Amino acid sequence: MQEPQVLVTPDGSRTAYSARYGETYGSRHGAAAQAGHVFVRGSGTDTHPAPQVLEVGFGLGVNFRATLAARAGQALDYLAYEFDPAPASLLAEVAQGEPGSDHPIWPLLLESWPAQPTGELRLEAGEVRLRVIFVDIRAAELPQNWATALYLDGFSPARNPEVWTPELLLRLARALRGGGVLTTYSAAGHVRRALQAAGLQVSRQPGPPGKREYLRAVRP
Ligand SMILES: C[S@@+](CC[C@H](N)C(=O)[O-])C[C@H]1O[C@@H](n2cnc3c(N)ncnc32)[C@H](O)[C@@H]1O
Repeated sequence: MQEPQVLVTPDGSRTAYSARYGETYGSRHGAAAQAGHVFVRGSGTDTHPAPQVLEVGFGLGVNFRATLAARAGQALDYLAYEFDPAPASLLAEVAQGEPGSDHPIWPLLLESWPAQPTGELRLEAGEVRLRVIFVDIRAAELPQNWATALYLDGFSPARNPEVWTPELLLRLARALRGGGVLTTYSAAGHVRRALQAAGLQVSRQPGPPGKREYLRAVRP
């Protein structure tokens, strides 16, 4: 596989280009800005008393670090699925000097990050618990009524359609607790309709730099 290339985005944060998908892991218009705006604050995870986050696509860990930074040492339970882990060296390069990389769990993650997508990684440091399950989310057994926040962050629906199907979105909706919030950077009509069909209350929200709108979907 070709090694993804690192790019610096306008807010100074880094992302990388995936040759496999033909697009970047995070927003080219500001990777950290999108992580904070859409996922962390959009889902209310920054202010939640005891968040339980489920993430589709751990990728480079940008959303995880943005969440760590926003929580400033408070409790966080984070469960992510990833079927094609990027090299630890790439996660490290993208994170260097960036918010969240100073949390004690980050070097533990880099040390134990696997080269192959097998099994799972379980780490704890202070109030933070992280599990990354290296499996295709379509084949994963998902928790039910568990997540206070769900970060739906696959590559785009055009390039990575299998993580945006009505079937998977229905299963993801069931992983949310009542009052739990799913956010995603995509505002595509078919994604919005599938989230509504899954029983979620969907709204379009003003987007981060480079994106007019994103979707926020709440389980009633
Ligand atoms: C846009 S990137 C995620 C970026 C990441 N959230 C971050 O903060 O760095 C999408 C990720 O989803 C993963 N992915 C795509 N399809 C998947 C699937 N079916 N099961 C599990 N992971 C998947 C990709 O390998 C990629 O790492």
